[in-house]
Amino acid sequence: MSDPLTYFQYRNGILSAEELSLEEMASQFGTPLYVYSKEAFKNPFHAITTGLAGLNHLVCFAVKANPNLSILSLLAKEGAGMDLVSSGELKRALRAGTDPQKIVFSGVGKSASEMDEGLAHPLHSFNVESVSELRLLSARSRAAGKKTRVALRFNPDVDPKTHPYISTGLKKNKFGLQRAEILEIARNQKLYPGIEVAGLSIHIGSQILSLSPFSDAFLKTKKMAADVESSLGKPLQFLDIGGGLGVRYRNEKPPTIAKYTALVQKNFGSKSDVRGRYRILLEPGRTIAGNAGVLVSRVLFRKSRKNKDFIIIDAGMNDLIRPALYQSYHEILPVNEDHRKGKSRKCDIVGPVCESSDCFASDRPFSDRVAEGDLVALLSTGAYGMSMASQYNSRTRPAEVLVDGSSYRLIRRRETFEDLIRDEVVR
Ligand code: LLP
Repeated sequence: MSDPLTYFQYRNGILSAEELSLEEMASQFGTPLYVYSKEAFKNPFHAITTGLAGLNHLVCFAVKANPNLSILSLLAKEGAGMDLVSSGELKRALRAGTDPQKIVFSGVGKSASEMDEGLAHPLHSFNVESVSELRLLSARSRAAGKKTRVALRFNPDVDPKTHPYISTGLKKNKFGLQRAEILEIARNQKLYPGIEVAGLSIHIGSQILSLSPFSDAFLKTKKMAADVESSLGKPLQFLDIGGGLGVRYRNEKPPTIAKYTALVQKNFGSKSDVRGRYRILLEPGRTIAGNAGVLVSRVLFRKSRKNKDFIIIDAGMNDLIRPALYQSYHEILPVNEDHRKGKSRKCDIVGPVCESSDCFASDRPFSDRVAEGDLVALLSTGAYGMSMASQYNSRTRPAEVLVDGSSYRLIRRRETFEDLIRDEVVR
């Protein structure tokens, strides 16, 4: 399992990505800057596939976690498939060289044109979340002269015990189909001539920190699958068990990938009650990308109040929205190890955006040595960092760099003002 510092460690007193100093990256590319480690993406991916050895499976990286083309391409080269939720993500996955047969098209609200775009490629399958969507997909698929393989997304009503905004498998959530709807579809398959019900999918939430919600969901899914099979009168081919395994941001103790894959083997492997007869698809995002990136930022100002200091950095909530949106914790470290010494003082580490929610850490003990002009790194920002960045306050989005040992590549240049206004007109 990776933790925030596995691939980002102090080397000769400077926080580094693999073998490269973040100071050097910042002086070359400016700040705020996302820096990723190639190894950090590869290792969890391979840990999953190793843990699932012997089981027919396909790991589809959840593109939404980090859609940079270089990241997708590096994972595709390692053998990953992609899980995507929009036409934009589909184009990215294909542009990055993903084998279309390893692509799963998910999402609760696909438009007809998005469906058509997906249907134009030999994708692995579509995950369908409502009866209306199934009807539309069937019609578009027929119009394209196809019979399209789908998995019905089952809402297993399991509490993943995570932040409410990222919990997706409860009855009250907008996602998936309920048991009765799924059985109704299975009984009436002929109403949907353009599709073949070939699997079930689930995704119960994100940043899940114990195995029990997965275990409950897997059991319910197997039961659901058996019931669907008796209605269909034929076996299902695959089960897509979603993503959601949490990572360590602070002191959480998420299950290791090995424990998670052992649970998958126990439920679906050759020694399980289903005897390995389903192909198992997975859709991990954060597990692969979460601890693969950091956001490097420079201290603009430090101002002292009676009880605390405000450290104003050049990264804002537009660059990394997770703390503002989910009150999520990200470790923040001075890039220069010496700056960790000093006396600790309560600090709010904030961005330049004109909102009080533009705060990365509040009342956090931080060294009094960190001064204006110094660099800090916000850790564990490889997933849902740059992918959720915006241009709010007309701020250009950060550059992204991928480090591989002692070499690096700029994988997205910093946006410019011209990029910001490209599609606007002055009247
Ligand atoms: N599959 C589906 C259908 C999903 O909705 C998601 C995430 C995933 C896979 C990947 O889940 P993961 O393995 O990354 O947990 N922006 C939030 C996370 C939102 C997750 C939404 N769905 C955050 O920054 O925490």
